[in-house]
Amino acid sequence: MNKINVLFVCLGNICRSPTAQGVFREQVRQAGLADAVQVESAGTGDWHIGRAPDERAQAAAAARHVSLADLRARQVTAADLAHFDYVLAMDADNLAELERMKTESNDATASVALFSDYSERFRGLPVPDPYFGSGHGFEHVLDIIEDASRGLLIDIETRLAAR
Ligand code: 4NP
Repeated sequence: MNKINVLFVCLGNICRSPTAQGVFREQVRQAGLADAVQVESAGTGDWHIGRAPDERAQAAAAARHVSLADLRARQVTAADLAHFDYVLAMDADNLAELERMKTESNDATASVALFSDYSERFRGLPVPDPYFGSGHGFEHVLDIIEDASRGLLIDIETRLAAR
């Protein structure tokens, strides 16, 4: 059976989208679906390619029992839009860039959306960029990501059950 492929996208791929990758990957594992769902992340920008997630993001995630230590930043490509089923943006800027890439590509099949569309409590809101703010931003990022991940998991479980 083909995997369901999920790509989280932010600007730098060192704060928000690796946090989403780590949190969602853990929820997928706990649901027993690690073999059925592939989870990755990428950035629209290229500044941090090859870097581990921001120390503050790693510490905030670790406090919630999620490790981001193995993740490394990469930039999103047109090929991603042909491979991944779900491409989920953290904010409106990321979403606009992904939609522009999708328009320019002939073989993009991904469903591109805002990650918080899957959230109960934060639906339609951005996951705010915590990079230049105070450390509290990382807690808020995690609150949104945990909630949206639960909704996304239900969506994917429904899809898997219909196969
Ligand atoms: P991210 O945060 O998009 O959540 O990874 C950022 C990281 C780095 C920069 C901006 C946002 N930066 O400008 O270097």
